[in-house]
Amino acid sequence: MRTVGASLFLLFFLLQVVADATATSPCAPKHVGPGAMVCVCNATYCDMMGPLSLPPEGTFVKYLSSKAGKRLERSQGKLLANRKRSGLLYSYNPCVHYQCIKGFGGSHTDSSSINILQLSPPAQEHLLRSYFSKDGIEYNLLRLPIGCSDFSTRPYSYDDDCPDDFELKCFSLVQEDTKLKIPLLQRILALSQRPLSLIASPWSSPSWMRVNGRVEGKSRLKGKAGDMYHKTWARYFVRFLDEYARHNITFWAVTPQNEPNSAVLSPSGDFPVNRQTAEEARDFIILDLGPELANSSHKDVLLIMYDDQRSEILDWAKVILGNSSSARYIAGIGIHWYYDPTTLPSLTLDPTHSLFPNYFLLYTESCNGYPPNIVRVDLGSWDRGVKYSQNILENIRNHIVGWIDWNVALDMRGGPNFVDNFVDSPIIVNAAKDEFYKQPMFYHLAHFSKFIPEGSVRVYLACNSLLGNCQLQTEGFLRPDGVAVVVVLNKCIWNVPFSISDGQLGYIEDVAPANSIQTYLWKTSTTCLGGKGQGTCFLPTK
Ligand SMILES: *[C@@H]1O[C@H](CO)[C@@H](O)[C@H](O)[C@H]1NC(C)=O
Ligand SMILES: *[C@@H]1O[C@H](CO)[C@@H](O)[C@H](O)[C@H]1NC(C)=O
Ligand SMILES: *[C@@H]1O[C@H](CO)[C@@H](O)[C@H](O)[C@H]1NC(C)=O
Ligand SMILES: *[C@@H]1O[C@H](CO)[C@@H](O)[C@H](O)[C@H]1NC(C)=O
Repeated sequence: MRTVGASLFLLFFLLQVVADATATSPCAPKHVGPGAMVCVCNATYCDMMGPLSLPPEGTFVKYLSSKAGKRLERSQGKLLANRKRSGLLYSYNPCVHYQCIKGFGGSHTDSSSINILQLSPPAQEHLLRSYFSKDGIEYNLLRLPIGCSDFSTRPYSYDDDCPDDFELKCFSLVQEDTKLKIPLLQRILALSQRPLSLIASPWSSPSWMRVNGRVEGKSRLKGKAGDMYHKTWARYFVRFLDEYARHNITFWAVTPQNEPNSAVLSPSGDFPVNRQTAEEARDFIILDLGPELANSSHKDVLLIMYDDQRSEILDWAKVILGNSSSARYIAGIGIHWYYDPTTLPSLTLDPTHSLFPNYFLLYTESCNGYPPNIVRVDLGSWDRGVKYSQNILENIRNHIVGWIDWNVALDMRGGPNFVDNFVDSPIIVNAAKDEFYKQPMFYHLAHFSKFIPEGSVRVYLACNSLLGNCQLQTEGFLRPDGVAVVVVLNKCIWNVPFSISDGQLGYIEDVAPANSIQTYLWKTSTTCLGGKGQGTCFLPTK
């Protein structure tokens, strides 16, 4: 009897766990200003969108978020055999393929970790599940600083105590890794069903390698490529990867330096950065970093060049990818969004892609609340969500394979940050109340990350407007499972009726509500692929 009782209890317990694990729960809204709203999570409650349930044949599923207060609200409709109305029509064609999609994600900084760990354990769990679990928005990319970034509470490197330690005898991870980032990463890896791709980037290096003799500040490595400083700095990357591997954490890619070109413009003099010109970066890759990685147990870790604003991407690509000795080590180009408003894709991303089509373009950092003359944390701002989705749509139209947000969680000021370079984040933690707030940015990102898994491909989607002004911003994708995805952003303050046609399958007729973002999914026909799998595609590697 006892064992039966125990078994029943266990069964009940497991059912509970399963029920919990697939929960769908709505936003607990909090209005924080005119037109501004956040969803509040705490130790006992958090909205979860739940696992994606795909539509039966002949129907479509739609998820809607809007300024008026909807958050990933699911509904279903039928594909129509005939179109009932004229007007805006988008043609979807899964047979015309563009780039492969790598994915979407955020960054695991010291500050994010500090904020998350200040919550009670159940609230922490809600936050991590919101981003990474099957019930959440299923990020599959995560960027980590190697050592400190400005989103740390102090400048440090992994070898601060032994001057001229060219053998890296004193190299050691610090508490920020062992107490904060690594334990959280292990929980994240355990929660994620999708394979998580990690990217690591250094901001600064040990003080004794730097011209200014300090970890912080806009300085550079001593000497030049191929010398002891540069060799040691390259081996430092390998040591970092070794140490994380000891914790069973492996990386998909590294970048040689965060913002080697533009960080000099940061308003804080103490912003940590090793400045590099394109030529210096090229020589470091050829003589030091490339061979060190290739000759290590991390030879499959990809090298992503640049990791800076798109304004000078073409010049850098010409120097580094135009030289076969450096190009052979490079898989793709990392881009930050901060100068996007003043640099056109047609002068940056397009020519770079045309000249070097075999190297992927990936957005590796973006955030709102920068530059510092604007409000840092603008709680509940719908517009800041629109800035995210609009930027993703614009850049995906121009070849990028993925988009990585900056800090996954900041505090009410947008920090901590040791040079007071506070910014905004999709999740703001209010530790005093053991609450966190999911901002519209979180949901705008969800409209991509949840629905467009790695291995999806961007496909043809175009509208028939004679005026060339289609009002809506849209992109179409084909998932590896043969499901069509269309994201529709409406920035207008009026409702926009529109249709989508999918060949023989029929039409979706719907309305994009004022100030909204929607994702549509339906099972498409992929006979054009000649029975060869579905939409699965792979990114070029080295
Ligand atoms: C947590 O949030 C839920 C839903 O909004 C609310 O009912 C509950 O009172 C909150 N708990 C605390 C401790 O604030
Ligand atoms: C790493 O993974 C192995 C095999 O799964 C396990 O035995 C070991 O305890 C893990 N080590 C750490 C530090 O988590
Ligand atoms: C590769 O590493 C081995 C030891 O791990 C070393 O002896 C050798 O010189 C290295 N080769 C290059 C090209 O760096
Ligand atoms: C690549 O750059 C290296 C280092 O500056 C230079 O020596 C070499 O000639 C360049 N190779 C090509 C093919 O341009």
